[in-house]
Amino acid sequence: MQKPIVVVGSINLDLVARADHIPQVGETVIGRSFNTFFGGKGANQAVAAAKLGYAVSMVGNVGTDAFGAQLRKGLSDAGVDTTHVNTVENSSGTALITIGSRGENSIVVVPGANGDLTPKLLENAKPILQGAGFILAQLEIPLETVEYLSQFAERHSVPFMLDPAPACELPDSLLRRLSWITPNETETQQLLRSRSMNQTLTRDEAADELLALGVQNVLLKLGSRGCLIAQPSKPKELIPAFAVEAVDTTAAGDAFNAGLAVGFLRRSSVHASAIFASAVAALSVTRAGAQPSMPSADEVEQFLRKQSSTSNRG
Ligand code: ATP
Ligand code: RIB
Repeated sequence: MQKPIVVVGSINLDLVARADHIPQVGETVIGRSFNTFFGGKGANQAVAAAKLGYAVSMVGNVGTDAFGAQLRKGLSDAGVDTTHVNTVENSSGTALITIGSRGENSIVVVPGANGDLTPKLLENAKPILQGAGFILAQLEIPLETVEYLSQFAERHSVPFMLDPAPACELPDSLLRRLSWITPNETETQQLLRSRSMNQTLTRDEAADELLALGVQNVLLKLGSRGCLIAQPSKPKELIPAFAVEAVDTTAAGDAFNAGLAVGFLRRSSVHASAIFASAVAALSVTRAGAQPSMPSADEVEQFLRKQSSTSNRG
């Protein structure tokens, strides 16, 4: 039987303004459009994996406001099991997002209910966590909960992938329990800031440092330049991104992580899984919004078929 992916993480409503550019500090710009989308790094990863045809359970919190019920329905409509989505006395998580003309973004996240996802609230989810094929987490929930999960995953030999976003410095004990860490470039520098004594590390140096700290496998996400895979005793591998026209890069990283986990669970190699994940992420950047941008399994298959006939890599 297929072991499900279990995502433990944030569920947000994204309030998205598009403008010609992202305002500087003190600057006001006139926007072009405003939309709301279902988002949150955790929920995005869950929806992406479900749309790829994989069994997914979400563990997280929504608030008692009107958004809470809508966010929960959005997840279940996408095929995610929401049995372990709690409703807690708080506002639902929100993200204020500005998108510039090249699809780039800046985001303020207000955790609300996500901040109340304590280890105690994972109690009822223990059986599904124990039977998971992969546990995926991010950092929009309390760090204490992520640390607890890493211990739980280690104890039950369940692979654990952490997207360290938004980044902060992490304890060595947590890093050592990660099967995979998947920071983007900014997050990589933030994770290692005090360890590198504020020096900017090259991506190879940063990947080596993370491996030296005990992370089992490292994948650095490099935006439109692709990703770098670093594993102990293996040469590093750069997988270029697919060349697509970026409309909105929000949740590209979430699409990528879901694709990577699905690839691994379908027993593809690390190389093939990273290419699959790159295709899922590339398709997501061609569309607006977080969850609505996630492609289906058929769309990814067609995209990869087309790409292999034209070999159109960035
Ligand atoms: P986000 O926080 O926006 O969800 P991220 O910052 O975590 O994303 P990125 O490095 O921006 O992660 O993107 C993740 C992956 O998505 C990249 O490794 C790449 O494969 C793909 N990707 C991102 N931007 C583009 C782009 N403009 N064109 C094609 N692929 C892209
Ligand atoms: O990774 C993208 C997500 O980050 C958005 O959907 C937003 O909710 C923030 O959590």
